[in-house]
Amino acid sequence: MDSFVIEGGERLSGRVRVNGSKNAALPMLAVALMTDGDVTLRDVPALADIRNMLRLLGTLGVSRVNEQGQAEEGGLDAPWDASGIRLRVTNPEASHATYDIVKTMRASICTLGPMLAKRGEARVSMPGGCAIGDRPVDLHLRGLAALGAQITQTSGDIIARVPKGGLVGTTVFLGGPFGSTVLGTANVMCAAALAKGRTIIECAACEPEIVDLANLLNAMGAKITNAGSPRLIIDGVERLSGVDYAVIPDRIEAGTLVMAAAMTNGELYLDNYPSDCLLAMNYVLESAGVRIVPIRAGERAGGATGLATSTGTAATGIVEASPLATIAARNRASLLSMITGSSDPTLGADGDDPMRQTVRVTCDRVLRPVEVTTQPHPGYPTDLQAQLVSMLCLADGNSVITEKIFPDRFLHVAELLRMGAKINRVGATVVINGVRRLKGAPVMASDLRASAGLVLAGLAAEGTTIVNRVYHLDRGYERLEDRLRGLGARVERVNEKELTSVD
Ligand code: EPU
Repeated sequence: MDSFVIEGGERLSGRVRVNGSKNAALPMLAVALMTDGDVTLRDVPALADIRNMLRLLGTLGVSRVNEQGQAEEGGLDAPWDASGIRLRVTNPEASHATYDIVKTMRASICTLGPMLAKRGEARVSMPGGCAIGDRPVDLHLRGLAALGAQITQTSGDIIARVPKGGLVGTTVFLGGPFGSTVLGTANVMCAAALAKGRTIIECAACEPEIVDLANLLNAMGAKITNAGSPRLIIDGVERLSGVDYAVIPDRIEAGTLVMAAAMTNGELYLDNYPSDCLLAMNYVLESAGVRIVPIRAGERAGGATGLATSTGTAATGIVEASPLATIAARNRASLLSMITGSSDPTLGADGDDPMRQTVRVTCDRVLRPVEVTTQPHPGYPTDLQAQLVSMLCLADGNSVITEKIFPDRFLHVAELLRMGAKINRVGATVVINGVRRLKGAPVMASDLRASAGLVLAGLAAEGTTIVNRVYHLDRGYERLEDRLRGLGARVERVNEKELTSVD
């Protein structure tokens, strides 16, 4: 098992590109099951979860092919880069997602809807809970059953079958005790895309990853409207074609990098930054004293700006685009979309693609405390809660964070206490009394985003922090240590044996 050894206190500076989104790519890869054509996905991050999904798809009869349409050398395990992964179904008979892979990754459940819709039958091992909570799948099953799927459970597997006459569109409510469900919405949307007639999903997840999935399906010939709103409308079609599609940037990786800059009093330029789906985070961080300013390419005001890159310094003609006006427009858009539930893409846009901007991140010397509640999109995302808790450990005053999606997602708290943080937890709320500095310590990563929070704490802390079990981190961040090192951090990946000598 690998660990990170971090010598804290280095100011991060430079330029880095946000990778493609893990949580958008995972259900999109499963969509390869829904067509006889080739599905090419670009900007898929090279992460452990993506490799697991590819392995799973391999067991379900999906193969990798190269640009020439021939079998990819190395098969599903072959490396890939941002230029793409091309998938083709070569055995449409397989339909069993077995426990040995599903147990490694809960997102395996998103093969259920696609496989059911295209193959008429799907058997998927029931994902269990994980470090962040119980994570039931009742809403997924409720939605598929409403379309007519016959669902049974045996030996820990969910078995879903299309009835005689096929799946039929209907109105289905996907709300649960914690709001909608992201992957449940993905499953029902995929199944409905090939059902007969119209399906309306009420209380659909509005996450940008759902919008991206709907865009992918539409590019394949589906008829989906209103994605991004809680009332999703799907008119079923008979078949879907192949597609070539670029995944949206990862809003959670982007947010993590912003907070890394803030906690080290750094200055970062982030390319491929999805401003349009980070409005809540931008608002919270700006309240805390972090400045995230969009940059417009191609303009010159007072000469070219030399930007430090993660590999050196590049002269570019990049200047800041009237920051206050842009932020005001974005906040207006954020507020409007929270109030109206609409996500008008023109609001707050400043001429660039608001999902792929360049931003400059800096912060005030003293961070201010804030009160935040995690919510479904467009609220503050649960996947950025641990990182925010770490950041607010260094704010000047008391912050309050309430977790409304996964009420037990606080495994990072006990580890931060080992680093000198002052945090009190009552149920799903933590009160953070800011301290002047954190102190390096050995800590244990327990889930993906908790690990990210601990790495951020280590970057800002005095002395050496060892974050153990970073395999959790590798599920969602591509070679994070290399990227952070390129920005000036002192962080090394070591395996357990090497660590004995570090101790
Ligand atoms: N829920 C139910 N019943 C269901 C499904 C969910 O009660 O059938 C509850 C969950 O227990 C939770 C809430 O509804 O309290 C939301 O869960 P959701 O189903 O939306 O989560 P998910 O789709 O399994 C995705 C992301 C998570 C992210 C959540 C919430 C992927 C692969 N995973 O999970 O990402 O936290 O949405 O936004 O897209 C991560 O990347 O670290 C991660 C955990």
